Amino acid sequence: MKILLLGKNGQVGWELQRSLAPLGELIALDRHTVDGLCGDLSDLDALRATIRLAKPDVIVNAAAYTAVDKAESETELADRVNSQATQVMAEEAAALGAWLIHYSTDYVFSGQGSTPWRETDAVAPVNHYGASKLAGEQAIVASGCNHLIFRTSWVYGARGNNFAKTMLRLAKDRETLSVIADQVGAPTGADLIADITALAIQKVMRSPELAGIYHLAASGEVSWHGYASYVIDFARRRGEQLVVTEVNPIETTAYPTPARRPLNSRLNTQKLHDNFSLHLPEWQSGVARMLMEILNK
Ligand SMILES: NC(=O)c1ccc[n+]([C@@H]2O[C@H](COP(=O)([O-])OP(=O)(O)OC[C@H]3O[C@@H](n4cnc5c(N)ncnc54)[C@H](OP(=O)(O)O)[C@@H]3O)[C@@H](O)[C@H]2O)c1
Repeated sequence: MKILLLGKNGQVGWELQRSLAPLGELIALDRHTVDGLCGDLSDLDALRATIRLAKPDVIVNAAAYTAVDKAESETELADRVNSQATQVMAEEAAALGAWLIHYSTDYVFSGQGSTPWRETDAVAPVNHYGASKLAGEQAIVASGCNHLIFRTSWVYGARGNNFAKTMLRLAKDRETLSVIADQVGAPTGADLIADITALAIQKVMRSPELAGIYHLAASGEVSWHGYASYVIDFARRRGEQLVVTEVNPIETTAYPTPARRPLNSRLNTQKLHDNFSLHLPEWQSGVARMLMEILNK
């Protein structure tokens, strides 16, 4: 099996380099050109030519325009990367008879209510990033290619910056922190997403009727405030010297950003669980593991 991985150095892309390696020949690209293969999703012609040259059995697209606030002003670039490039991949996958594995977001939903979103719920993005990701999903479905689309939420990786590292840095500097308490979701490790992707690819190859959209997130739920408090308590128990004494809950309205954020990022993962016989661990187990890696450095 030949796999073309796009966005190899993102949080999920980095972990996919590891989890996909045992499945077959892996061609992993970032936005640069290597051996005539170009992984820049903003260059649609080069992307199409790259897929035709590589002739993969599976395209895994971990690249995306993920700057949620900047997407409000860079709408054209966000659309090209998240929607038009995805359409190119889908068209080429359909022509090749290849699978397209793609990632999307709970930001395709309105964020209203407190019920975890199901795959069949009505979509209604509240910001441009969400709209551009939704357009990417729709292009894949319309193309008729074999696909898996994993909608995920609150992704973190041990590599690079993440929310937990920011909280730990601030907790060493400040006595008081204010953290949003009315947005709720499940912090989901890039390593978990990558592992499930590899397992799912193996299974859909044998059972193509399992193609479709799936919600993929760790189990349980927490607010950003609860997440921050968990990180700080964990670090303190591990002997970290922190000066923070108060972590105050605030509402989203107290922290204005260019892009609106949905309050309800809960995802119902029953379909993934049932169709792929997979168990999704509680969010704390992945976060604790990531914290152990950070704190042991
Ligand atoms: N992060 C989250 O909380 C979250 C939540 C829900 C869904 N998702 C979805 O999950 C997937 C993986 O996200 P992630 O957290 O791994 O994102 P990430 O860490 O921001 O990685 C995105 C990658 O895309 C690359 N990229 C951006 N523009 C590109 C372009 N024009 N051409 C080629 N590569 C480009 C970036 O490369 P550079 O580093 O060179 O810019 C980066 O490596 C995405 O589809 C995202 O929409 C993420």
